Amino acid sequence: MRGMICREVEQFELIELEEPAFVPGEAIVRIKRIGICGTDMHAYKGNQPFFSYPRILGHELSGVIERIGDNEEGFRQGDRVSVLPYLHCGACVACRNGKTNCCTQMRVLGVHIDGGMRELISVPVTHLINANGLSLDEAAVIEPLSIGAHAVRRSELRPGENALVIGAGPIGLGVMAFAKQRGAQVIAMDIHDERLAFCQQWAKVDHTVHTRKDPDLQLLRLTEGEYPTVVFDATGNAASMTDAFRYVAHGGKLVYVGLVKGEIAFDDPEFHKREMTLMGSRNATKEDFLHVLEVVGSGAIDVGSYITHRSSFEEMIDRFDDWLDPRSNVIKAMVELS
Ligand SMILES: NC(=O)c1ccc[n+]([C@@H]2O[C@H](COP(=O)([O-])OP(=O)(O)OC[C@H]3O[C@@H](n4cnc5c(N)ncnc54)[C@H](O)[C@@H]3O)[C@@H](O)[C@H]2O)c1
Ligand SMILES: [Zn+2]
Ligand SMILES: [Zn+2]
Repeated sequence: MRGMICREVEQFELIELEEPAFVPGEAIVRIKRIGICGTDMHAYKGNQPFFSYPRILGHELSGVIERIGDNEEGFRQGDRVSVLPYLHCGACVACRNGKTNCCTQMRVLGVHIDGGMRELISVPVTHLINANGLSLDEAAVIEPLSIGAHAVRRSELRPGENALVIGAGPIGLGVMAFAKQRGAQVIAMDIHDERLAFCQQWAKVDHTVHTRKDPDLQLLRLTEGEYPTVVFDATGNAASMTDAFRYVAHGGKLVYVGLVKGEIAFDDPEFHKREMTLMGSRNATKEDFLHVLEVVGSGAIDVGSYITHRSSFEEMIDRFDDWLDPRSNVIKAMVELS
């Protein structure tokens, strides 16, 4: 079978790989779609910490079950599936407390261990999501959308609350869509006008704010002088994450969905006077995947326009550099296997 290996920084190679052996408790999945995200881009460019090469990337996956044994979940050969790529240990303190998304021994397919850029992959049956009601494209974007769904669930956002989402990339867009699903008033903030326009059209956000156009004043105006009660930062930008403290209402919450490698410093009085709750949000759980599956299945999320770029497995190597260029306006690139 064919597999795409990231041999070293900036070097992909389509090679012949051995097919995975069938293991009880696992299923062999024929991969059909691989979504590409920032993590893959960073791995390719060599700025992903703790990354080792060679590595088979790919963690936003959908496909069809090729082989499976008896299983309690009722999966059968030929079922369309989405893959939960976060392999957790099941024994650590986080796992025991149901927080498998932040397992201390976390191994993410395509990040810490080889992922889905290959024709066949073996996946624990527990990490398959039945996606028979969805298209292959829809099944493959459950993972990136679940990151946003998890952050929103974690924030306990309530209907009618003012939520601010800073950063309108594929992750922030998911946060916006699920914040709207919860019935919140959603304000999107970014430094790019085109991205803000996309938020309005795609996520149906209520308002947009340009970061460089007096955001303080605009936020006060939009929230009757109170500021948003929940602020999500999905920029991956340290300056934005620091500034975000100032945009939280008294008694409100700040959720870091985006992440940076370094330290974030904040002004304690700004934090304390608000009695602010600061949260990290990492990955997602099976519960989030199932929720996203339901919402996508209901037709409430336009997956078609979220996927902006496509390529075959063969074309991917040449297209990758293009997808890294912000001028290509990529939201989600999708690799298709026949
Ligand atoms: N929580 C998780 O488990 C998880 C999973 C995947 C990705 N992430 C992280 O989420 C973040 C976003 O990912 P993405 O793929 O959407 O990234 P992206 O780079 O495509 O999007 C980031 C957006 O933020 C905007 N932005 C940057 N600096 C800004 C600033 N100062 N003010 C306002 N907007 C600003 C950019 O214009 C862009 O639209 C990254 O840090 C990524 O590592 C987190
Ligand atoms: Zn991803
Ligand atoms: Zn664990």
